[in-house]
Amino acid sequence: MAVKEMFAIAPEWNEVRRQPSGPTEIEFRNVGKCFPAKGKAAAPFAIRDVSFKIARGEVVSIIGPSGCGKSTILNMGSGLYRPSEGEVFVGGEAIDGPVKKVAFMLQKDLLMPWRSIRRNVELGLEIQGMAAAERRVIAEDLLDRCHLQGFADHYPFQLSGGMRQRAALARTLAMDPQVLFLDEPFSALDAQTKMVLQQDMARMLFEEKKTALFITHDLVEAIAMSDRLLVMSARPGTIIEEIVVDLPYRENPLERRKLAEIGPLAGRLMDLLKVGEDTELD
Ligand SMILES: Nc1ncnc2c1ncn2[C@@H]1O[C@H](COP(=O)(O)OP(=O)(O)O)[C@@H](O)[C@H]1O
Ligand SMILES: [Mg+2]
Repeated sequence: MAVKEMFAIAPEWNEVRRQPSGPTEIEFRNVGKCFPAKGKAAAPFAIRDVSFKIARGEVVSIIGPSGCGKSTILNMGSGLYRPSEGEVFVGGEAIDGPVKKVAFMLQKDLLMPWRSIRRNVELGLEIQGMAAAERRVIAEDLLDRCHLQGFADHYPFQLSGGMRQRAALARTLAMDPQVLFLDEPFSALDAQTKMVLQQDMARMLFEEKKTALFITHDLVEAIAMSDRLLVMSARPGTIIEEIVVDLPYRENPLERRKLAEIGPLAGRLMDLLKVGEDTELD
């Protein structure tokens, strides 16, 4: 069987590429969030009783039906929303406002159209007051690693959607965040561009030992890129299942996608999410 052969060829994969078990980097403790609704006296809960821990260096995906509160979880993790109940910790500190050590990446690249790609990547560093020469070195390095050599002086409108997302990734990494919140960053890309970007993202997260909380509606993408999956119920969203992705190649999703275990695991997720019944994925 393919998997056994792979272990026979490279037995060290299984040891070296295991999910990390460092100190807790992100923790949600009994978190609930309600938003006021028109015509209702009591604000209904969007999410309820959400608890999980993510270790330093771990990549964890959240999957769940549309509107179950996935983006709300990321917004609370980065301090943009406050929980109505419970507590959120990042790096051991309770979150009560916007946090510097986390960075967000969204489906929309949010690049500034009047700035060159290089100056978009440098933006956060410029705001921090870093000297021009210093930030240029950082931007050049990241543009190389994100395969944007030769595009530094282009403007966003001159780049394809995939390249703009690469630039957004470079800009996110320029701030050297401890934690990345990724809210469907690849969902607007075509299938092949997406796989290439997943590969680069996975490698960088692995090499730089970043902690990431990743939202996607693509079940195979979640399996290919994560150490663990958190499956949510429909609104009010809560975590109904936690699945450890016990497979090698977290830093190499193209290889992981080829493993025989992917199909059955995706099938299990489809069953949990009742895909094909009444659930709409987001
Ligand atoms: N700022 C907000 N004001 C009011 N309702 C919100 C706000 N943000 C999210 N919600 C509601 O909370 C629920 C969860 O939203 P969201 O986290 O965006 O879901 P998901 O990302 O899983 O699709 C939805 O019903 C949404 O309408
Ligand atoms: Mg969302």
